[in-house]
Amino acid sequence: MTGTPTTEVTLNGASAPSMVRPPYAGTRTPRLVDVPTFRDFVALGWDAVPADPGIPDGAAAAAASHRARLSARHPGETLVVAAGQAPVRNNDCRYAFRADSGFVWVTGCQAEHSVIVLWARPGGHDAVLYLPPPFRPGDDGFFSNAARGELWVGPAAGLEEWAEALQITVEPLAALEARLPDLDGALFSASAGRLAETAHVEISAELDRSISDLRIVKDEWEIDQLRQAVYATVDGFAAVIGEVPRAIGTGLGERWLQGTFDRHARTIGNGPGYATIVGSGAHAPIMHWVRCDGPVLPDELLLLDMGVEARSLYTADVTRTFPAGGTFTQTQREVHDLVEKAHRAGLACVRPGVEYQDFHFAAMEVIARGLHDWGILPVSVDEALSPTGQHHRRYLACGIGHHLGLDVHDCTKSHYEIAKGAPLVPGVVMTVEPGLYFHANDLTLPPELRGIGVRLEDDVLVTAAGSEVLSGALPLDAAGVEGWMRSIQKTF
Ligand code: GLY
Ligand code: MN
Repeated sequence: MTGTPTTEVTLNGASAPSMVRPPYAGTRTPRLVDVPTFRDFVALGWDAVPADPGIPDGAAAAAASHRARLSARHPGETLVVAAGQAPVRNNDCRYAFRADSGFVWVTGCQAEHSVIVLWARPGGHDAVLYLPPPFRPGDDGFFSNAARGELWVGPAAGLEEWAEALQITVEPLAALEARLPDLDGALFSASAGRLAETAHVEISAELDRSISDLRIVKDEWEIDQLRQAVYATVDGFAAVIGEVPRAIGTGLGERWLQGTFDRHARTIGNGPGYATIVGSGAHAPIMHWVRCDGPVLPDELLLLDMGVEARSLYTADVTRTFPAGGTFTQTQREVHDLVEKAHRAGLACVRPGVEYQDFHFAAMEVIARGLHDWGILPVSVDEALSPTGQHHRRYLACGIGHHLGLDVHDCTKSHYEIAKGAPLVPGVVMTVEPGLYFHANDLTLPPELRGIGVRLEDDVLVTAAGSEVLSGALPLDAAGVEGWMRSIQKTF
């Protein structure tokens, strides 16, 4: 305790105890870096703490092989790829950092501000990873830098630990900053934009395109990471379905379920791979309903689009649509059945040698025919399907599948001829996700269909023999979905 209570009269005339002012009140608090005694004192007396970079098993070897592929594609060119930095949220607070996927792919490293340079040399490249070292006892940053000071963020791996874990040459970031003139003519990825600006170099769309192209076919290690992400996601669906009665009963709603999945994802992996979508009733047809501020209604559909991002940063992306109360109405079931039929038509096209986009056309044909049979299309099926029609897309305006990997919409910078315009090959991982989105205010629809939204999304690996639905543990058909819900909720 400091100070002795005295009594003073307050504005309304009552007496109130007050304190004498504490020592040095009225002066400015000193900046600790300006206090030599403090700096000397805080620098000493710390036991060394081991700091493991925490790299997933196999990540270093996978990254080395990715680097070799990138190197082979760019002989004689020095390449610069960066992890990036978290954007400012406000003042000195930043959003959570998540390393650039291309950088992770070539390094296995997720450390903010890091940069890899593949220095061109005759016959190949020399890879050097440049990292901002953590501030440890003896550095002022140890106590004064909230981003890299170990007193703030805990023990952090240094250059030696990174070099050991990744089996790569590691140097301090300052060493690269001193070599900027040597980067004249180098190709900078978009993630290295800041450094490119400092070096007065344009970023290279070609480098990002190369990395994107090379990432389309996953190797065994990547497939294993995706498998783990998908399996963890299936477990997350079970956790969310277990909470549905509570969400309905207590009016906690969509956000409770979103939070349930996000906690699961953050516990099992790095977190959700994209903003978790939970749409009940009229929100189900809203394709990216991430606001999630509505109730969960027992007689309505509940659309869940969720993916765990593994610690390696590979993500799943899975959607199922549930009757929140456990049983589909006849109309809900019919819409679900049509989407299921379109989905199965799409899945049937996922195999080696088939054009990537065929799944899209196969699923769309089923959707257009179904809508026509229900009397919803104002034109013939042929006219709707033609490139100059597309009337059915009013009820399905989004893409119905994409490559999947480190990014939920993976490899989007690839050359068309290599990604969307190419035949499938073993090692491609993609989603198939047709849906029907009947908005509550869509006056072209019969009233009973308004406010129904269904999407079914699976993560699919192209194999030598055909394909494997990685998310196949979740049922696709309406009866299977009802049964699965019952079995999950019994155990909660
Ligand atoms: N699951 C989100 C999306 O594919 O857009
Ligand atoms: Mn998707």
